[in-house]
Amino acid sequence: MLRKKEIQDFLQEFEDKFIPTKIDPSKIEILGYGEISTVMSFKEEELKHLAFKRLPIFTDEKEACDYAQIHIEYNKLLGKLNIEVPESEVYCVKGHGDRIVNYFSQQRQHENSIGNKIIHIHSKEESLILFNLLLDKMKKLWYHNLNNPDLQLGLDSQISNWAVKNYHEDIKITEDTELLFIDTSTPFIRKKGEEQMNPLLFLESAPKPMRPVLRKFFLQDIELNPPRRIALLGTNIVFYVENSYNYNF
Ligand SMILES: Nc1ncnc2c1ncn2[C@@H]1O[C@H](COP(=O)(O)OP(=O)(O)O)[C@@H](O)[C@H]1O
Ligand SMILES: [Mg+2]
Repeated sequence: MLRKKEIQDFLQEFEDKFIPTKIDPSKIEILGYGEISTVMSFKEEELKHLAFKRLPIFTDEKEACDYAQIHIEYNKLLGKLNIEVPESEVYCVKGHGDRIVNYFSQQRQHENSIGNKIIHIHSKEESLILFNLLLDKMKKLWYHNLNNPDLQLGLDSQISNWAVKNYHEDIKITEDTELLFIDTSTPFIRKKGEEQMNPLLFLESAPKPMRPVLRKFFLQDIELNPPRRIALLGTNIVFYVENSYNYNF
């Protein structure tokens, strides 16, 4: 197994040569393009059990390190609420120009285990069970937020952000199926009313020509209500709890 430093060096070397428009499929497999990150897996034997999420959105090391800390804390807090997340690690490398790039690694999940695949492959009954399991997780968050006004948590609950744990081809989705929440690269933590991550960072993941428009259009709302508005930028179903459920289709 590779040590953290070896993976860090590997990622730095990869990033040095990385051109987003020229991805070499013999070296990497793209597992998904999220709203925030590109999710990839490397073909190297020692790395292929991992999914890496690349976030090229930081302008200095402090910003990237602060973000990594919030990500780690978010993983822990969700775990405490019994919203399980895959084991994760953070790597910070130098990007092109003056960019700093974070890579988050996670245990790679079976491609058919992701919620949006499940509802295509499995029966309607099983899909409904999955949806109920997901609502159950969100309920945990809701109760937590009701009881902890000084430590509010949010999550982007769209179906593609959940995976069925220990998935295999013959699995049947039942009430006992365990879920993993995989989209932890958007850590919504609000302490004593203060948003812990800088929501404007996420504008960096939008195409460059769109950024001034989004900034102008959303800025007022971001100031009023950062997490919810930013979540709305990129999701189909949003669950950010303040006093109640918020579903936005
Ligand atoms: N650990 C993982 N294993 C396998 N596929 C993954 C993993 N994490 C993400 N993916 C794939 O990439 C997609 C986007 O990942 P996500 O973490 O939601 O990124 P974003 O924060 O950009 O939305 C997921 O819907 C899924 O298809
Ligand atoms: Mg996502």
